[in-house]
Amino acid sequence: MTLNNYTNFIQAHISKMKGYTPGVQPRWEEEKKNKIIKLNTNENPFPPSKLVISALKNAIKKNRMHLYPDSSSLKLRQAIGQSYDLSEDCVLIGNGSDELLSILFRAVLASGDAIAQPYPSYSLYPIIAESLAAKSINVPLMKNWHINFQKLLEETKSRKSKVKIVVFANPNAPTGIAESIDEIISFIKANPVISFVDEAYAPFWKDSLASYIPKLQGLVVCGSFSKAFSLAGQRIGYLLAHPKIIKDLNKIRDSYNISYLAQEMALAAWQDKKEFQKRIKIICMRREALIRELDKLGFETLEAAANFIFTKPPKHMFTANTYGQILAKHRILIRHFPRPSRISNYVRISIGTASDMKKLIKCTKSLSRFKIGSF
Ligand SMILES: Cc1ncc(COP(=O)(O)O)c(C=O)c1O
Repeated sequence: MTLNNYTNFIQAHISKMKGYTPGVQPRWEEEKKNKIIKLNTNENPFPPSKLVISALKNAIKKNRMHLYPDSSSLKLRQAIGQSYDLSEDCVLIGNGSDELLSILFRAVLASGDAIAQPYPSYSLYPIIAESLAAKSINVPLMKNWHINFQKLLEETKSRKSKVKIVVFANPNAPTGIAESIDEIISFIKANPVISFVDEAYAPFWKDSLASYIPKLQGLVVCGSFSKAFSLAGQRIGYLLAHPKIIKDLNKIRDSYNISYLAQEMALAAWQDKKEFQKRIKIICMRREALIRELDKLGFETLEAAANFIFTKPPKHMFTANTYGQILAKHRILIRHFPRPSRISNYVRISIGTASDMKKLIKCTKSLSRFKIGSF
């Protein structure tokens, strides 16, 4: 197809972008037929809870799919707010937390501004910044893989700094390492710009900063229903901040960004927290069991605080990339990041069902009998 010169209308900085590469999502039919084990995008191995499914059925029965949904997701905002003693004015609902990241960045960043982030972290942050012609300042993780808060502060406080947002995930991705709440609070108190804390994986750890919203100026917290609440397919996230910030973010949100069904399911999931807590416990137990098994085979795994592990296969066995490729041939999908080089020896493995974990370990054990080069 020809397009003559119409591509010239696309802004140059967007044309130059590489864009985000999501983890492989096989078609459902292919996944079922080939019995693919998906451990590459940190989804929850449990299906939505019974309460969530019955909320879905009730919502369908109400026969109102031809009407627009509540444009402000009020009931969901109230429920989330109540859990943290916040009014619904402190809550914004998004089409996944990815959309909320994008809304906040669009509201704050002008061309030439910057975000500061620990590096590596969630690779979408710099991509959204880039789409706005803003820069990303990468502050490398420390030797022990923890966030270098001191360096992040130096970046925001330097006189030349155009940093408007410091963004980090806690627990971080892809490392899975969590920072202590006390350390984060000290950082936020000293940080003169917006602190955006991405808590997509926080329910697998222990603490959230949500209740600190009224006390810490400039704190913005984001949570997701994709990981702990088994609703990745419904795309729902929430953002918590001071009502004045929420009011401005609301102005640039699509009016009907959350579907009717997604709102009903997310509300039921939030109300069924106890059930999800039980599942989180099981996922964390499986995670620790997997680490122990891989340990015996000589893998080196980082401290893990989320629903995945970040692990280095033993050198004499295979490189991380080869390990990922061989597992893929055995229909087990995991994630390898070739860049930056510091993490290229590691793979990220999501915690799946008990049977997924058994198959992964069995396959890894059988592979470990071979040596590098024999594949
Ligand atoms: C750190 C982090 N934040 C946010 C997301 C996206 O979450 P959502 O599905 O709510 O858009 C992911 C997805 O993997 C993630 O790893």
